[in-house]
Amino acid sequence: MNAAKNEFFDQWSAYAEILARNYMHHDDIFGAVAAYLAARFEHKPFAVLDLGSGNAFHLARALAGRAVSRYVGYDLSEIALAEARENLAGLGCAVRLQRADLRAGLRCEAEKFDLIVASFALHHLLSADKRAFFQQAAERLNDGGMVLVIDTFRASGESRELYLDRYCDWLGSRCQTLDAAALAGLIDHIRTCDFPENAEDLARMAGNAGLNGAMKIHQVRWHESWGFERSGV
Ligand SMILES: C[S@@+](CC[C@H](N)C(=O)[O-])C[C@H]1O[C@@H](n2cnc3c(N)ncnc32)[C@H](O)[C@@H]1O
Repeated sequence: MNAAKNEFFDQWSAYAEILARNYMHHDDIFGAVAAYLAARFEHKPFAVLDLGSGNAFHLARALAGRAVSRYVGYDLSEIALAEARENLAGLGCAVRLQRADLRAGLRCEAEKFDLIVASFALHHLLSADKRAFFQQAAERLNDGGMVLVIDTFRASGESRELYLDRYCDWLGSRCQTLDAAALAGLIDHIRTCDFPENAEDLARMAGNAGLNGAMKIHQVRWHESWGFERSGV
């Protein structure tokens, strides 16, 4: 991870404003994810690994009412993790939060999980690291488990340069309450650190790791939510 990214999420305040104002449509996205998880897991217990958890506010809400048996979260932002501890308290299960790179977390976890979540975090990795992510995530899944990716995606055939111009124009015009410095920091962070894939390429990476069952759960503009599991499970 580079210095620009650390700085943006270490401060957390600009991203907190984005969440509070629903600028990236988190409310809509996680509403759909909550419905999906309710239908999939019903009241069966399941263990969750959340990679790039941030403050876990929206995932905690989406998991409310489910029988989460264990939650493990990794993030690099100390401020976000402190908030996550409070936001996850209502789940009523064991919660372990670690300040570490999500790739190291995935490698080091000894136990397996039923749901591995990467929400707006995977796009920070380059393609080779995303491929490694799926390989390692597949190894950490229990039978019947799934990887849930919520993220920014390039449209099919859209170059990174074109994506960055379009996405920054769109998000910049929505973030009306960010002051000029915060907006400049956000745009600089996106242009420096974001490497979204298109959905076909991400599904191929998951498939190469044995996760052939790709399900699109939701889409709003460039924000897509996908579940990946072993087909036939
Ligand atoms: C855009 S926020 C998403 C937070 C939350 N998952 C959500 O959906 O709102 C990205 C988060 O990923 C974290 N992050 C980025 N790269 C990471 C890495 N390599 N390892 C661990 N955390 C990372 C950042 O600190 C930040 O909290």
